[in-house]
Amino acid sequence: MTRNEQPMIGESPAFLEVLDQVSRAAGVNRPVLVVGERGSGKELIAERLHFLSPRWDQPLVKLNCAAISDSLLESELFGHEAGAFTDATQRRFGRFETAHGGSLFLDELASTTPAVQEKILRVIEYGQFERLGSSKTTTVDVRLIGAANVDLPDLAARGRFRSDLLDRLAFDVITLPPLRVRREDIVPLAEHFAMRISRELGRELFAGFSPDITARLLEHDWPGNIRELKNVVERAVYRHEAVTDPITEILIDPFESPWRAPHRPGDEKTKGEIPDLARSPINLRDHLNRQERALAERALEISRGHQGKAADLLGLSYHQFRGILRKHGLVGH
Ligand SMILES: Nc1ncnc2c1ncn2[C@@H]1O[C@H](COP(=O)(O)OP(=O)(O)OP(=O)(O)O)[C@@H](O)[C@H]1O
Ligand SMILES: [Mg+2]
Repeated sequence: MTRNEQPMIGESPAFLEVLDQVSRAAGVNRPVLVVGERGSGKELIAERLHFLSPRWDQPLVKLNCAAISDSLLESELFGHEAGAFTDATQRRFGRFETAHGGSLFLDELASTTPAVQEKILRVIEYGQFERLGSSKTTTVDVRLIGAANVDLPDLAARGRFRSDLLDRLAFDVITLPPLRVRREDIVPLAEHFAMRISRELGRELFAGFSPDITARLLEHDWPGNIRELKNVVERAVYRHEAVTDPITEILIDPFESPWRAPHRPGDEKTKGEIPDLARSPINLRDHLNRQERALAERALEISRGHQGKAADLLGLSYHQFRGILRKHGLVGH
């Protein structure tokens, strides 16, 4: 995919600063780490790093380390000789070799094993590795761009990511700000995605968003970041048939329905929402208060401000719910 097909939208100071950092890092022949929440644009930034670098006319090879089993990842990265393992009928080049002269984007680096991490480190340091089943050393010239949406220093501190690799990768770390801290970018991004899908749907016009909808877009916290915004906007445009009128409906949660399967207690345990107390102690009362507030806001959002329905969603009486709204200064909603 070329740069022209994927324009980068954003004019917030935080985003412009990232673009500056990318331009600086692009020219330096060292590994780069791109970190940020899911959907915040890591892959797009990795592409930009490549296309602004002196390697722009060489290959950009991408691999998502989480999408491949541990046993296959090694041969995917470093290749193998015929007969290296049962299914290896032919010699195969790995991604490092395919990326020779260019860049290799390794997404979700955190899900690699220590053995693979050690091999990656050696390629970064010396450009050298052996294909599986071979004793011959292969030399490549590849610039590594890694991405992660988890806290790598934390993993390294807990012995789950090699710190020597992390040190090496951290030559330059580009941290993408989540969308909720760059709200100025929400409307330009939303308009960009809306115009793009309008064109795809063969519509001549996109009549914009109503002020109410713009306000809702600006209010939402976008935990899924730009990808979530894109999906919400595309769905809204697609469902909107009166193309000459502005959009007056959006659905932030497409699974929202009275028929939705009830939430089973205990589900939250699997969601990783329990804070890491070993790393940073918390104040339980503050934490619970914040959760209470967030849930009250969410319930209001789902019920479109109808307090009776919001109370139902939380298993509270109307009066109990009003009490919580007052406690958090949310009355007037
Ligand atoms: N600044 C931007 N301007 C326009 N589109 C963007 C921008 N940033 C991201 N996008 C779009 O948002 C979507 C998510 O971006 P991307 O895949 O780069 O995120 P990611 O951080 O790699 O996500 P994940 O952690 O889930 O892999 C993509 O469709 C991408 O094209
Ligand atoms: Mg990605």
